[in-house]
Amino acid sequence: MEAGLRVLVVYYSWTGNTRRVAEAIARQAGAEIREIVEKQPRRGVRGWLSGARDAARKRPSEIETPPEGNYDLVIVGTPVWAFTMVPAVRAFLVQSRPRLRDLAFFCTQGSSGAEAAFREMEALGGRPPLGTLTVNVPELKDAEWEARVRKFVEEIECNLRLKPGREIERPEGE
Ligand SMILES: Cc1cc2nc3c(=O)[nH]c(=O)nc-3n(C[C@H](O)[C@H](O)[C@H](O)COP(=O)(O)O)c2cc1C
Repeated sequence: MEAGLRVLVVYYSWTGNTRRVAEAIARQAGAEIREIVEKQPRRGVRGWLSGARDAARKRPSEIETPPEGNYDLVIVGTPVWAFTMVPAVRAFLVQSRPRLRDLAFFCTQGSSGAEAAFREMEALGGRPPLGTLTVNVPELKDAEWEARVRKFVEEIECNLRLKPGREIERPEGE
């Protein structure tokens, strides 16, 4: 990413898939990384059921204080639960919205729900994302998803440069 740009990758992960992708994105983007942690951790079958129910009801959960700080770009990652974002990511977007500038989204999922999740994240974040990335769980078995991470970060960089009001860098003498 452009020097001087403050970038944060923030994610929730219950079983580790979204964490793997988040770490790869943070490495590629040279970003800080923070996990969103629920005050009441979900465990076992009850955790699964309450997670699916809360996600389906679009209920934000109680989370530990989200990261403060003035980031130019926040890349938000969620697992897909019940065809939408997880309750912890909903809480993060609601609480952080006044501080958010540019956004990008990524998710991991079994097979479906990413588009609906991104639509709702866009509505809560209050602006369209500069890029989105969906990784399906079976893809995590081999390394090809990592190439898609590189493309995702490049897409964000490109969209940042194209934003109205941004200086277009030209070589000397042009
Ligand atoms: C409560 C719950 C609900 C889920 N609902 C969906 C779903 O609607 N669509 C889907 O494709 N995968 C669904 N999944 C699968 C997860 O999205 C997938 O395993 C994801 O990679 C988990 O991310 P994590 O390991 O970071 O927690 C669900 C998983 C859980 C635990």
